[in-house]
Amino acid sequence: MLKVIIISMSINFLLLAEAILPIPLEVKYDKKRASLGKKLFFDSGLSKDGSISCASCHHLPGSGADVTPFSFGVNGTEGGIHSPTVLNSAFNFVQFWDGRAKNLQDQAKQPISNPLEMASSLPAALAYVKTNPAYLQAFNASYEEGLTEESLVDAIAEFEKALYTPNAPFDKYLRGDKTALNKEEKEGYTLFNEYGCISCHNGINIGGNMYQLFGALRLYQSKKDNLGRFNVTKKESDKYFFKVPSLRNIALTPPYLHDGSAVTLKEAITKMMEYQVGMIANAEDIDKIEAFLKTLTGDSPSILDESQ
Ligand code: HEC
Ligand code: HEC
Repeated sequence: MLKVIIISMSINFLLLAEAILPIPLEVKYDKKRASLGKKLFFDSGLSKDGSISCASCHHLPGSGADVTPFSFGVNGTEGGIHSPTVLNSAFNFVQFWDGRAKNLQDQAKQPISNPLEMASSLPAALAYVKTNPAYLQAFNASYEEGLTEESLVDAIAEFEKALYTPNAPFDKYLRGDKTALNKEEKEGYTLFNEYGCISCHNGINIGGNMYQLFGALRLYQSKKDNLGRFNVTKKESDKYFFKVPSLRNIALTPPYLHDGSAVTLKEAITKMMEYQVGMIANAEDIDKIEAFLKTLTGDSPSILDESQ
């Protein structure tokens, strides 16, 4: 049995040796639209009572995620799932843990009208933005159609496209700088391959490109019994499937998991070993994997330091 596992893991390792891709050093985006989207992202006027902006839950500059297991929306209403980061979200194949938004434009509509979040509506948000002459002028200058519901969410999506974090030590390593990782970090990467983490966490976001069963090798009891992808498809076989989260900048985004139940990165890795790999790993291996995961922190997006 053990032999079979070891053989299948080494096959995995061979097949997926180059499975992670570096984040491009430069991503093209429309600067005017993105800076407009940036203003909207920080504008609490888009919420029902003017109290909550996208940035209330997605902290920027910084992790782009929330620090509490669940987020608090208008009137302090608590949500039911942990907020992931918006950093590099443009590289995810779909948005949300259950993939219910096919792209960032589609995603941005939802928090505005979600009663647990901004508790407003897209028409009401549009009406608010229309009252501001500076916004109106900027939309007219950036979009042929001017300010519409579609251009409103498109500007936010364009800002999110600019939230990429290149130059992580691991990306430098992938580009050929073998000194970018120390011995422990390299060993951690080897373990990440050997334990098969890479079979789910791969691609440019080291995640974000497939759904997987959470509890693949041991039934997981989620804090709020979220059914994951099943919520969208209603297919029995999709129960407890979640979008595999990106591990980019993972050191910055505690707490972890869709229910925010893992307080530290070590705890998240230990749970992954138990529920996804089906093993109890020794502390040394966990330390090494953690050291590797810490090399996935990239540069803060340049759009966040421009004074615009
Ligand atoms: C009250 C807190 C809150 C507010 C306000 C909020 N979000 Fe979120 N955001 C979340 C939570 C929680 C999730 C995860 C929900 C889910 O997957 O079902 C999320 C998910 C996302 C995702 C998907 C990321 C991924 O990896 O799947 C993006 C992108 C995002 N939000 C952008 C925004 C934008 C843009 C706004 C403003 C228009 C916004 N959020 C407002 C809490 C919030
Ligand atoms: C079978 C697929 C699979 C394997 C193998 C796997 N993961 Fe995961 N990983 C997932 C899924 C799915 C989630 C999201 C779980 C949830 O719903 O909360 C996740 C979540 C995580 C998280 C938390 C991310 C966050 O933002 O909350 C970390 C860290 C992580 N995995 C690391 C690892 C490591 C390290 C390994 C190897 C020891 C590993 N994973 C193996 C599928 C997998």
